[in-house]
Amino acid sequence: MPDPRTTPGGQSPAHTAILETESAHTSGVYPKRPLAIVRGQGARLWDADGREYIDCVGGQGAANLGHAHPAIVAAIAEQAQQLISCPEIFYNDRRADLLAALTAVAPAGLNRAFLCNSGAEAIEAAIKFARLSTGRTQIIAAMRGFHGRTLGALSASWEPKYRQPFEPLLPGFSHTPFNDLAALEQTIGPETAAVVLEIVQGEGGVRPADEAYLHGAQALCRERGALLIVDEVQTGFGRTGKLFACEHFGLEPDLLALAKSMAGGLPMGACLIGPRAGALERMSHGSTFGGNPLACAASLAALRVMQNERLPEHAAELGDYLFDRLRAIPSPFIREVRGLGLLVGIDLKMKVTPVLQALQNRGVLALPAGSTVLRLLPPLVITRDEIDLVVEAIAATLTSF
Ligand SMILES: Cc1ncc(COP(=O)(O)O)c(C=O)c1O
Repeated sequence: MPDPRTTPGGQSPAHTAILETESAHTSGVYPKRPLAIVRGQGARLWDADGREYIDCVGGQGAANLGHAHPAIVAAIAEQAQQLISCPEIFYNDRRADLLAALTAVAPAGLNRAFLCNSGAEAIEAAIKFARLSTGRTQIIAAMRGFHGRTLGALSASWEPKYRQPFEPLLPGFSHTPFNDLAALEQTIGPETAAVVLEIVQGEGGVRPADEAYLHGAQALCRERGALLIVDEVQTGFGRTGKLFACEHFGLEPDLLALAKSMAGGLPMGACLIGPRAGALERMSHGSTFGGNPLACAASLAALRVMQNERLPEHAAELGDYLFDRLRAIPSPFIREVRGLGLLVGIDLKMKVTPVLQALQNRGVLALPAGSTVLRLLPPLVITRDEIDLVVEAIAATLTSF
């Protein structure tokens, strides 16, 4: 039998068995690639046949610290032996440490946090807190925005094909064009509880917000008694070259949604709460797993790694380098390269799916963002040499069509 590692696309029986077992029992909601990933280290992944890949999927944003980071592995192992579960009816040492560390580095005023387990949960919390504290019901989001798939978060998300099968969604949600301050100004009214925005729209095609739009949205919210919810589920934890993308613009949101890389890859989310959000009543929200000591220990370790290894600065430097190199690729298929830090979108003049497959054959795993945008979300520990390999694979792929 030929060695599957040297046969393009060839897979061993053990590898095929993993795909077959998952396919037989999985929900069916994911468009899966026929590839079983079984190990990771830094910015590299390995499949079940030992083939190596450079990871530009980055756990869809959950792997900013790289795979199997020793500090995260040690923090998880140590805490697992101490205490894994501890609901928030009790206090806990790791949770206290994390709340102090997180609010110390958060944008100004965000002194409290509701801890949860995912990005959608962080958005759900933000929507509920905005309604509770303003006594208003309407939420304004942006066209092409993405905030998650639970019913509240989906009501704020834009993509019609995600929404339509589940309508009617929550009442009171509307969408205005992204980066259009005049449209926002016309829409915010006396019943607006909050405006929810991403600083760089990730799923919506890697589209950065304009500084004037963000500041204008913040000022309008303050003027008219609404709250500003910033969704940094994808842009947070160093991705854009700052610990939080808000820092690029000195934004001070009233509620900040975080998740993905917050706990070094373990499931965790948070809704950070500022003074304009007011006090929240007891029992108004909750989560069994939220703030569990295991995730808190991993998150504390992740924050320390971010700071000690200067990962946001590394993302800024390597992001600039990657942009320069991508913009120099002489391909008629590239419409635009855009993004911030190591959140990179290559808008193509062709469908992205065949490009993703061709890149995989060259040992690079990447993501789409819509039908024509190739999205790169590498772990922030990626090296310059690895970036060179990614650029060479993209250049070779785009000249092979
Ligand atoms: C900006 C943004 N908000 C919210 C979410 C939802 O996060 P989760 O998949 O953890 O529910 C995502 C996921 O991609 C996201 O990119």
